[in-house]
Amino acid sequence: MPETGRTLVTGALGCLGAWTLKALLDDGEEPVGYDLGGDDSRLRVVLAEDEVERVTLVQGDVTDQEALGRALDEHDVTALVHLAALQVPFCRADPALGARVNVLGTVVVFEAVKERRDRLPGFAYASSTAVYNATDPSPAPESGGAAPRTLYGTYKLANEGTARVFWQDERVASIGIRPYVVYGPGRDQGMTSSPTLAMAAAARGESFEIAYGGTAQYDYAPDVGKAFALAARAARDGAHVANFPGEPSSMTEVVSAIEAAAPEATSAITWRDEPLPFPESLDSRLLEQLLGPLSHTPLSEGVARTVERFRELTRNQQMSSTPHV
Ligand SMILES: NC(=O)c1ccc[n+]([C@@H]2O[C@H](COP(=O)([O-])OP(=O)(O)OC[C@H]3O[C@@H](n4cnc5c(N)ncnc54)[C@H](O)[C@@H]3O)[C@@H](O)[C@H]2O)c1
Repeated sequence: MPETGRTLVTGALGCLGAWTLKALLDDGEEPVGYDLGGDDSRLRVVLAEDEVERVTLVQGDVTDQEALGRALDEHDVTALVHLAALQVPFCRADPALGARVNVLGTVVVFEAVKERRDRLPGFAYASSTAVYNATDPSPAPESGGAAPRTLYGTYKLANEGTARVFWQDERVASIGIRPYVVYGPGRDQGMTSSPTLAMAAAARGESFEIAYGGTAQYDYAPDVGKAFALAARAARDGAHVANFPGEPSSMTEVVSAIEAAAPEATSAITWRDEPLPFPESLDSRLLEQLLGPLSHTPLSEGVARTVERFRELTRNQQMSSTPHV
């Protein structure tokens, strides 16, 4: 076991969960993945076969404190990344379930860590740009938004408040990271998943309409996963909340990057000309102050790598469905 110890990732079977596991595996760890579901398809998009085998998967609900505590103890966990959550459309469809997973689930993680502070002094968790709304200044200050437009954003703001009080009252340290639009292999659900779905469509030569437009920041999922892995080990004091650093890009630039990565595709990638309900850009100095220099994959390169991975997956699928003679 490396000196860094063993990290548990909640929501491990999601897009960022898979990329956080990848970062931990690359660092020589044998991480533990904790997730409600049993579908490891995103892990298989992101990880090589031998890497999937190095992950210990525990099936469990993040709102179940006993089950989470058991996973932390049975696997001698010394660092934690909390990503399990329901995204915007799922919180909108079922607000009570959204609050249960996103708000109660996060309180349960704080409680579980509090009980194990001797070996787990703090952890990293995902907040979101959704704590802001479109009338917040751009660049948006890292002190955060006050009036999110969605229940999802409201629940994330509650997580940030929960973190502040658990530090103040219980000395549980945390680093909350607010990603903006995450893109890359494995990003297949949520309000801002459509640029990645467009990359997948372009790799198959199909047309696609992206559900929004305007300018936003685009975070390459492997870079975000690396930041979460680092933050888990760096959370030793305070309740920090930091925007994920990135450059604003217009939808014209995003679509140009997709077209450059898939020049053979003749079908059109279009978009609805409605901006996201968030500021176009975010102040984001704090995370590198806390963690040191982070990976910043330029948009054109991240899109090219994503399209290439989707091409590989399409080829593999075609090969496995070709009848053997
Ligand atoms: N993807 C983005 O653009 C983005 C942006 C900002 C913040 N975030 C946040 O980052 C985190 C990860 O996002 P993602 O894109 O990987 O999401 P995702 O939807 O791909 O994955 C979420 C995972 O959480 C798991 N989960 C749901 N309910 C659970 C429960 N009760 N117990 C245990 N596991 C449960 C799901 O099975 C799923 O595997 C989330 O907290 C999300 O809100 C994502």
